Amino acid sequence: RAKRPAGAPDKKLARPITKVGVIGAGLMASQFALLFVRRLKVPVVITDLDQARVDKGVAYIHDEIAALQTKNRISPDEANRLRALVTGTIDKSLFSDADWVIEAVFEELGVKQSVFAEIEKFISPEAILATNTSSLSVEQIGAKLTHPERLVGFHFFNPVAVMPLIEVVNTPQTDEVTLATAMVIAGKLRKNAVITRDTPGFVVNRVLARLLGEAMHAVDTGTPFEVVEAAVAPFGLPMTPFELLELVGLTVGAHVLDTHHTAYPDRFFESDNLHKLAEHGKILERDAKGRRTGFDKGALKIV
Ligand code: 3HC
Repeated sequence: RAKRPAGAPDKKLARPITKVGVIGAGLMASQFALLFVRRLKVPVVITDLDQARVDKGVAYIHDEIAALQTKNRISPDEANRLRALVTGTIDKSLFSDADWVIEAVFEELGVKQSVFAEIEKFISPEAILATNTSSLSVEQIGAKLTHPERLVGFHFFNPVAVMPLIEVVNTPQTDEVTLATAMVIAGKLRKNAVITRDTPGFVVNRVLARLLGEAMHAVDTGTPFEVVEAAVAPFGLPMTPFELLELVGLTVGAHVLDTHHTAYPDRFFESDNLHKLAEHGKILERDAKGRRTGFDKGALKIV
């Protein structure tokens, strides 16, 4: 018999989910919106600041559904069913009957606080709230909620469809029903869930920010990108630090390093060069098929 993960409350406390609300229609949010329709088979409503952003997110989901069909992972009927379950809207009233509302908007405390304070006006008093924050305090994100006990961290990893882990962040305020619901949802998404404390970077990003921060610091202090890659190759990581930074997004990566540096200045590096690379848009040079061919010449001039 599978053991209950450490600290997980009884599954029987979990609320049933009949509709999901997703706030943010960027890449991460669109990826997990698709996972919710696929695995929970319930309607998912996705919103963002404006219709153009919403449409982009929905287009991404439709493309991924088409790709699943091309790979024969789903039938044409199933593809139609999944498409029909996704609604993109800027009308927040469509969130009123959602039982699980999760956000992945810009990683800034004030922005996330306002997003939750606003959505609380539209949602049912029973709805459970989740944030996909990668390193901000979940408790602080919920500080402006009337019911902070219904907020939990639910942290996915890139690429969402592939990475098997979810960090479920349990704040001192999160109640048992909320935690149990998050654990049951993670199971239905076929992910391994670990319950973490609400500390900056939780567990994964604290480990990762050490690696990525040290790699960038080596570059910042004069070691060429190639040398850093060759030096870490023996660890057998599935991606080099620079590939990983591009995968998570250079802006997100720079932000994660900043957050860790602020929280633990003696242990983490921030990197001005990474911010410049984020503005530049890339570190690696790739061919038309997306295969890397080397380091981007502009990026090499930045550092
Ligand atoms: N988006 C969607 N799907 C992707 C993808 C992407 N960017 N990259 C790969 N995949 C899918 C492929 O389509 C393929 O699916 P299929 O089996 O249905 O065809 C499957 O993943 C395997 O792809 P590959 O054959 O290309 O496999 P690889 O062996 O090259 O593995 C990888 C790809 C799984 C991405 C691997 O390189 C890996 O594990 N990299 C490390 C990723 C990682 O560490 N992520 C955590 C980032 S930290 C984070 O997200 C937290 C945030 O808060 C900062």
